[in-house]
Order: sequence, then structure tokens, then C-alpha cells
Amino acid sequence: MPSLADRAAIVGAGHTRFGALAEGPRELLRGCLDGAFASVDHGMERGEVREAFLGTLGFSGWQLGNASAVLAEELGAPGVPVMRVENACASAGYALRAAVHAIESGSCDVACVVGLEKMTDAPSRRRRYWLGVSGDTEWERLAGLTFAGVYALLAARHMAEFGTPREALAEVAVKNHRHAMHNPNAQFRKVITRDQVLAAPRVAEPLGLMDCCPVTDGAAALLLARSSIARRYTDTPVTIVGAGAGSDRLAVQERPSLTGLAASRRAAEEAFRRSPFERSALSVVMVHDCFTIAELLALEDLGLARPGEAATLTLEGATALGGRLPVNPDGGLKAKGHPIGATGASQAYEAFQQLRGSAGARQVPGAERALSHNVGGSGASATVTLYQRG
Ligand code: COA
Repeated sequence: MPSLADRAAIVGAGHTRFGALAEGPRELLRGCLDGAFASVDHGMERGEVREAFLGTLGFSGWQLGNASAVLAEELGAPGVPVMRVENACASAGYALRAAVHAIESGSCDVACVVGLEKMTDAPSRRRRYWLGVSGDTEWERLAGLTFAGVYALLAARHMAEFGTPREALAEVAVKNHRHAMHNPNAQFRKVITRDQVLAAPRVAEPLGLMDCCPVTDGAAALLLARSSIARRYTDTPVTIVGAGAGSDRLAVQERPSLTGLAASRRAAEEAFRRSPFERSALSVVMVHDCFTIAELLALEDLGLARPGEAATLTLEGATALGGRLPVNPDGGLKAKGHPIGATGASQAYEAFQQLRGSAGARQVPGAERALSHNVGGSGASATVTLYQRG
């Protein structure tokens, strides 16, 4: 395991607005990169970046095949090696892990990670195709199972085994919409009530419209440096002390259990194996709440709640800002939005803001250690990243 001085630290981060945006993919890349370089306290030349990693699904076929060259151009460093990572919704989480490994292995001292997706310009039939493409096609997608349908199956099973009430699912949406009120980049900045969530049109029983994340455009960028040189760039770097990943069978029907995601559990195990701190030391957590049930599953899979206990914690307010362990202070995928390939980088952006004390009205007071959790598709891949201030 590398010493703390040889780990990777985030020294700058940028984020576009999330939502249905007029900007195309190039403008989104430019926007988040400009923001990231501008955020580096003592400045960083673009030529200092020696490797770049791009997380993107390429929704609707955009730049299928070679988006990496576009990133190198917009980075202002054509010639720099760029690796594109496509792991469905976990693309940027995996891209971040690859960048961490590049720094820890000595391959480079400074790296850039970008997550990008442009989703809203696809017509609805094409959207359905591209949303489904990350699931099992032969036995599930072609039989009509959508992503909302997959998570509805998981929710129904969790409710049957643990008696999880629909109110707990609804409370995840209510909380994350409330948090997003404090995030100027969020897609939805409107307070919703539990009754509105419960009465919303059904999408896939037991999930309704407001149990779902939206369709979103957006991008986020991170600048990473080896910890030993991070203070050249900022006095308050955020060190990545654990970068775990895991995978699972693609088809949900082939998994032994539907009340959790084994890929998340594997990713958490690896991340905490490398970390200098335990779960109990976490100040703030960003989890992959693509559907409300997913936030409850995440808390249990990550070992932050016992099986069946996440619903109670949520209903008690333990996961809200001001609670014992705030979850998704940025509004999460549910209300901030979920531009597939960008989400993992956006979560790391939030960890960076929280641990530097620059998250504004959504700041968790005194936050020192954070976790982000990024899931691909219906849970076939996942990453868990651990961060600490300094
Ligand atoms: N949460 C809350 N409100 C939502 C919403 C969401 N997820 N999605 C849309 N809305 C609102 C819109 O703002 C709009 O409100 P308005 O009438 O006040 O303007 C209204 O609902 C209708 O929006 P529209 O875009 O026409 O909805 P839609 O029916 O086309 O799409 C979903 C709704 C839930 C089907 C779509 O957002 C979706 O597919 N989400 C899941 C995306 C996904 O699977 N991602 C991958 C996860 S692994």
C-alpha cells in the first residue's frame, strides 16, 4: 500500500450546471475544465497534466469511439494520453480510480478526470434504448425490463423481506430535493412533500415519477496531484485514501439476492482495506441514489446501516443535513440530476467542496472524511472512494 505521501490528492475541481442544457458536449467539457483550473488556489498550467481519464457512456452515440481526443483538445493539451472509461453510470467512478492508480504507480504526478454526458437532446425512443443498453439485453431488456423496472424489483423484494415502508423511499426523495435547494448546480431546486412522492404517477410499481432520477446533461472535472506535491497547488488538498471497485453478474435474475448489490459491497471492502480510517469516522457520504430504493440499499451494502435498518435511519432524519451522517448533501442523483458518465466525478467534486469547507449552505460542519459510491447500470459494477482533508 502506498504511503500517504504517494497517494493522489484532489487539488482542483469544476462542475457545470446539471439539467436540460443548451450546451453541447464540447462546451460542457470546456466549462468544467475551466472551472477546475480556476479553482486551483496557487494555479496550475494545463501542460502540467500528464494523463487524463474520461468517464462517459456516449449516450445516444455521441462521439462513439473517440471522445478522448476531444477531451485532450478541450484540456488544451493535445498529445496527452487520455483513457476513456465506459462502465455505464459508474464510468467516472472507475475513471477516478484509474487516475488514482496512475499516480500511485508512479506513472504520472498530475492527472485529470472528467465525467461527461449529454442526454436530453435524444428523442424519447432513443433515450429508452440508451438507458437500457447497460443492462442485460438478451433475457431482461428485450423482455421489457427498464432500469426503473429493475430497481422496482429490488424495492419490492426489500419491502417483502424487511417490511421497508414506501414512506421511507419517499423520504429519500424529499430529503434529497431539500438538499438540492442549496446546490446552484442542481437540476431540480424545488421542495417536494412525502404525499407528492406517494401520489406521483407510477413508473414501475412500487416506484413513481419522484422516486426516479431525471435525465440530465452535465459534466464535472477533477485535478489530481501526488500528495507529496499537492501543496504546490493548494494549502487544502483532499487526499484519496481508498479507491475500491467491484462487479457482479449483468442479469439481475442470475444474482443470488435482490436485497443488496454485491458489487457495492466488494467495492466498499476494497476501499476500506486501504483506508487509514473506519466507517464510524465518516462525516459525509454521497451515494448512488438513481432510484430512492438505491439509497437505502447503498447504506446497507456499504456497512453504514445493518440490513433492513436504512429505512428507519432515513425516517428518523439521521441521513439529512444536520443528522448523524448526512447523505447526498448535494441533492444526490435524485434532485441534482444524473448525467450518466458524469455522476462519479460530480460526487468527488462534492467531497472536495465538503472537506475544504466550501460547500456553502449545504456544508456539513467540520467535515473531515467522506465517501462516494458510484454504481453502473443495475449494479453490475460499482466503485467506492474514500477522501480525507489534508
Ligand atoms: N423527478 C421529479 N420530477 C421529474 C422527474 C424526476 N425524475 N422527471 C421528470 N420530472 C418532472 C419534469 O420536471 C416535468 O415537470 P413539469 O411538468 O412541471 O415541467 C414532468 O415531471 C414531466 O417531465 P418529463 O421529462 O416529460 O418526464 P418523462 O415522463 O419523460 O420522464 C422518467 C420521467 C422518470 C421516466 C425519466 O426521468 C427517467 O427515465 N428517469 C430515469 C433515468 C434513468 O433510468 N437513469 C439511469 C439510472 S440507472
